[in-house]
Amino acid sequence: MERSLILFKPDAVQRRLCGALLSRLETKGLKIVGLKMLQVTKELSAKHYAEHVTKPFYPLLEQFITSGPVVAVVVEGPGAVAVVRTMMGPTNGQQAAPGTIRGDYGVSRQMNLMHGSDSVEAAQREIAVYFTAAELMSYDSSLKGWVCAADEVK
Ligand code: RTP
Ligand code: MG
Repeated sequence: MERSLILFKPDAVQRRLCGALLSRLETKGLKIVGLKMLQVTKELSAKHYAEHVTKPFYPLLEQFITSGPVVAVVVEGPGAVAVVRTMMGPTNGQQAAPGTIRGDYGVSRQMNLMHGSDSVEAAQREIAVYFTAAELMSYDSSLKGWVCAADEVK
């Protein structure tokens, strides 16, 4: 089953929106398999955002993501990576449609509340950056069989 790495960024923590955002993911039908609060260090930021380290905006991104605690979540579900990206909306809250998380809660390109993996390969890499294997839970949900049909589960 597909997994995605989510971060509720420092702005979401400061604005006390983590519960609301997590609730949207759960209500959608995604299963939480990992969850923790942590402080992102400069080293961790560089590992997570390896693709962006050389970009001109990276110093500001680093400053923002290390500015306070974040909540890291791993969710699991059919098509989890694309489902989360669709729920988040585009990077800049000014362009994100109402109904998306960034569209409903923000007006900023930087303070856009939430990170979500942009591919299955990125998700696998990012999950390993934030979680050990022992921190990820494998369990059957009592909703299994009600969230999607058996032939939709890969
Ligand atoms: P994320 O990785 O955080 O989920 O966001 P994303 O995929 O929507 O956007 P991405 O292109 O991966 O950029 C990562 C974060 O860098 C900041 N950014 N600033 N100043 C700029 O041009 C610029 N572009 C991106 C944003 O905070 C973005 O979320
Ligand atoms: Mg990204």
